[in-house]
Formats: sequence, C-alpha cells, structure tokens
Amino acid sequence: MGKIIAGIGTSHVPAIGAAMDRGKANEPYWKPLFDGYLPAREWMKNNKPDVAIIVYNDHASAFSLELISTFTLGVADEFLPADEGYGPRAVPNVKGHAEFAWHLVEQLILDGFDMTIANDMPVDHGLTVPLSIMNGEVDVWPYPVIPLCVNVIQYPPPTGGRCFMLGKALRQAVEAFDEDLNVVIFGTGGMSHQLQGQRAGFINPEFDTMFLDGLTKDPASLASISHETYMREAGSEGIELVMWMIMRGAMGDNVKEIYRHYHVPASNTAAGLIILENA
Ligand code: DHB
Ligand code: FE
Repeated sequence: MGKIIAGIGTSHVPAIGAAMDRGKANEPYWKPLFDGYLPAREWMKNNKPDVAIIVYNDHASAFSLELISTFTLGVADEFLPADEGYGPRAVPNVKGHAEFAWHLVEQLILDGFDMTIANDMPVDHGLTVPLSIMNGEVDVWPYPVIPLCVNVIQYPPPTGGRCFMLGKALRQAVEAFDEDLNVVIFGTGGMSHQLQGQRAGFINPEFDTMFLDGLTKDPASLASISHETYMREAGSEGIELVMWMIMRGAMGDNVKEIYRHYHVPASNTAAGLIILENA
C-alpha cells in the first residue's frame, strides 16, 4: 500500500527561486533564510520518497480567470515549468506519476471530492520553488511529483476545513494503492503576507507561530479558521495557508515536529518551513 511518511509545509515566494537561479543565495539578505533550509535539505536527502504530492496554487500561469477550478489533480507524465511572464525558470521538468495520480483522483471522486483532472498543466513558482527549497539545485528532481492545485486566487477559495477533510480523504486514497509507495506530501504557500492594497507588506509573526504550533498540537482548531480571520490576521495572500491544511489532514492524528524554520521577510512574505512525521 501507499504510505505517507512525512508532511512538509513551506512558503513558495518566487524571489527565493530567483535568488537561487541567479546565484544570490549567499548574499547578506538571503543567507539567513537559506542557512535555515540546509537541515531541511539534509532531512530530504535521508527521507527520499518514491513520490511527492505537492499541494500548491497556480498564480494565473496555467489557468486564467476564464477557468477557475477549486481542486485540480495533475495526472500527466510530465509538467513543464510555466512561463510566468519573464520566461520559465531554468529548473528541470517535473516528472509525474500517472498511474498513482489516476488512482488518487478516482478514489477522491468516488469519496465525494469532485476533483478536476489535468492532463496538461504547466507549474509555476507555487510548485517549483518548494522543490528548489527542499532539494537545492539539481539536474533532475529526485522523485516524481503529483501536483494538487488549489484555487486561492479568486474568491471564493475552499475553506480550511474543507481542505483538512480533503487531506484526510487523500490519506485514505494513498493507503488504498496496491503497490508499496512511500509518499511525502507538501503543503505550500503562506505564511502571512499581503501583496496588494493598503496593507501591502503586512506580516504577522504571532499568527504564524500560532499556526505552526497548531499544526502539531491542535490541527482541528486551525481547520475552523474562517476566510475573514485569514484575511485579517495573515493578510490577503495568507489564505494560501489553507493548502497546509490539506497536508496536515493527510498526516495521522498525532505528529511530531521534526524541523521548523521561520524567517521574516523573504520578499514581502513571512517564510515558514515545517517538517512533520507521524508520531
Ligand atoms: C510573493 C509571495 C507569493 O506567495 C507570491 O505568490 C508572489 C510574491 C512575495 O512575497 O513577493
Ligand atoms: Fe503565492
């Protein structure tokens, strides 16, 4: 059967990818952030999964406002880095796992989650930056990836509670696979940030710390955080944190925190990273 061996939460700030791609990771602005990623990369090397499920959001790269899908699962053999307006990042193409992805999407739909199925979906910084953060610069990504894309761009996004339930269903779907597969699930985006309007630049370390603590100690209480609370406490783009709730739902009831890194700011964002294993 499939087995979820760990969950990772991480920000996906595009400037983090750009700093790596342009050789700036050792500059004074970036070094403290990247130093904090080293233990996470070490852990990743020692815990290489057979496949990763990466819960992320598209930022009007693969989809435009013409089509807004709430939950989309990528079933292709390969996903190309998206052109985000200044050309695609020069990172490896992302290999998929079609057989496992079709199994997951079938199980989820039969379980009542009406997923959209993507045969062709370029992946933007929302997915490639977390891969870069966890794996550094590589010629080939070390494991195949199943992208699970969530709408957090256009109101109404799914609630954190619904995301938590999707994560639980995803866990069951993983475990119903008839081949032995070790799976790591990423929840990406966040933490607190606001890119627009009067509060542009807003960051809230108290909220972020409460959220990181809650992932281990009391995820059910995080699942009841409303859209309004995310908006007020984490900024308008802080709503990306609902994607971490899918990751958390896919973990067991009891988890242990293996590693945490929190750094303010990375570009306009409070950058967080957490690694959870089942207790
Ligand atoms: C930034 C953060 C994001 O999550 C994003 O999608 C784009 C930009 C930023 O902090 O600059
Ligand atoms: Fe984002």
